[in-house]
Amino acid sequence: MPFNSSIKVDKGKTLLDAARKADIPIASVCGGKGKCGKCKVKILSKVDFLGVTKREKGLVTEKELTEGMRLACQTKIYGDMIIEVPEESIVRGFVKDKAGTKRQIFPQPVVCLYPIEISIPSFSDNESDVERIKRELKKMHNVSVSRIDPFCFKAGPLILRKEKWKVNVVVSWDEEILHIKPKNDKELYGVAMDIGITTIGAYLLNLKDACHLASGSTLNPQIKFGEDIMSRIGYIRENGIKGLMDMNKTLIKGLNALIDDMCRKASISKKDIFEVTVVGNTVMHHIFLNINPSSLGLSPFTPFLSSSITLKARDLGIKINPAGNVYVLPVKGGFVGADNIGVVLALKPYLSDEDCLIIDIGTNGEIVAGNKDRLVCASCATGPALEGAHVKHGMRADIGAIEKVTIDPKTKEVEYKVMGDKKPKGICGSGVIDVVSELFKARIIDSSGRFKKDINSKRLRNTYGMMEFVIEWAEHTATGRDITITQEDIRNVQFAKASIYAGAKILLRHLNIDRPSKIMLAGAFGNYIDVKNAYVLGMFPYATVSQITAVGNAAGEGAIFALLNRKEREEAEKIARKIEYVELTLYKGFQEEFLDALYIPHRKDPFPDIDDLLKDYQ
Ligand code: FES
Repeated sequence: MPFNSSIKVDKGKTLLDAARKADIPIASVCGGKGKCGKCKVKILSKVDFLGVTKREKGLVTEKELTEGMRLACQTKIYGDMIIEVPEESIVRGFVKDKAGTKRQIFPQPVVCLYPIEISIPSFSDNESDVERIKRELKKMHNVSVSRIDPFCFKAGPLILRKEKWKVNVVVSWDEEILHIKPKNDKELYGVAMDIGITTIGAYLLNLKDACHLASGSTLNPQIKFGEDIMSRIGYIRENGIKGLMDMNKTLIKGLNALIDDMCRKASISKKDIFEVTVVGNTVMHHIFLNINPSSLGLSPFTPFLSSSITLKARDLGIKINPAGNVYVLPVKGGFVGADNIGVVLALKPYLSDEDCLIIDIGTNGEIVAGNKDRLVCASCATGPALEGAHVKHGMRADIGAIEKVTIDPKTKEVEYKVMGDKKPKGICGSGVIDVVSELFKARIIDSSGRFKKDINSKRLRNTYGMMEFVIEWAEHTATGRDITITQEDIRNVQFAKASIYAGAKILLRHLNIDRPSKIMLAGAFGNYIDVKNAYVLGMFPYATVSQITAVGNAAGEGAIFALLNRKEREEAEKIARKIEYVELTLYKGFQEEFLDALYIPHRKDPFPDIDDLLKDYQ
């Protein structure tokens, strides 16, 4: 792919370092550790200093090596080089929109706009402008203010006089004047943001009527530093304060671009945005606030800050009205972040008579269980297999990703759907779930997840000692290579689903709940997977298919709730205090549950709908 970009780097730096410096988004699932094999690049120039590292030998085939392919993270630069980045190594900016809220909310915003008419100063009423504004706000709207943001100092006196003392005053819930606007300027907006490890979702709303004006999604631009939490913490550990600053600046730049984009779509000025709310997991929360997250990578994974915090947008580099505030929801702990608090705030299991189970699977898995009496939560180490990573031909949900798969149980032939209707490049998370489930339904793998020996299909083969099933042959793929699912890929999916199942079951057991009344799947995972196929794999305990619903981006909705109603912020604080965290790995019986759940659908537990789902495959 021609980026036509040149970059100078110090000798000894890697090609991945150079790509990061040049803002070329090369996939680096393992964060540059030489473990994932996703950062392959082609070296076009003749170079005599290139050796092949041990790691490369395991991840780059002999043929690829002779073609000049290398791992960008393992290749050091000691002279001029010309590099080509293949399509499949590029992380693209195509992201399925994180859906906004569908649930109703009564607006009681944290920032309001009040029209006032102030008396003209005279010798008999010569109090300062600000004191007269305060007096009128109290008299006309029964609103008290105690201070004024210095950003009002420059233009405030001029606007008052130019507008002949009729103005609109923007006041925050904590009694601060944020802005003095001309009488005809009544614009007042807010933004809610959900910072995920992989994607960021944002929503622009009118604070006066809670009307949704625009939304946007983008890949988290920190992805160039690694695709999971540990790689990003690792980058900061290795590079110290500079690493944190790199990561923070990159994130803030991405958030500002998203705000610009939404303002363009809605034809509004970002100077009229006065409030931003933010949710994200604890590592994203820390990096956003410029807090070193290193402690979150080490047991006992303690956050530096867990309470909610409100800061001025200008202090964080967020480009809205400089007097505007940014409110970051609280976190519960190292693994239960502000995004989980947002999910609970949006879905409100704490008001429910029914026993709820909420599963939010992103790059990590979080589970919440309970009802109005008690709520518990846990984090489960699903690994990234359900997002298409750590799978040989896995990729994120992007153009060219196989997202749906069916396998004919008789012929073992495959049909699939590709995002963007292009030639396939790889398989994304929903496709991976489909493939494993379909392999089971078509009896190509058994309940232990192993490929059966007696299958008569040319698609099933042994490659260098590893069994794999061909989804599509090289001549029909965008990469020119067969797209396969290997025994190891299936194993990774089993680990992920067993981790969710066992985690959910332990939480229910902790609450003495036999079976949940409803299961809510939050996040992109819930939106795009085939629930029936996930059910066949055995992902949800004690459920029927009809009890499972996808609830969209509930974390983002939580951020919207906190933006539109100040009481919801108080709720968020209460949730963070009330919800109990259960450390699954220390819980008695977790290992046994996990081992039983590795089977498809399960070694022991019943699945009421399974016979019905398998009946066409007998
Ligand atoms: S192997 Fe290079 S980033 Fe993973």
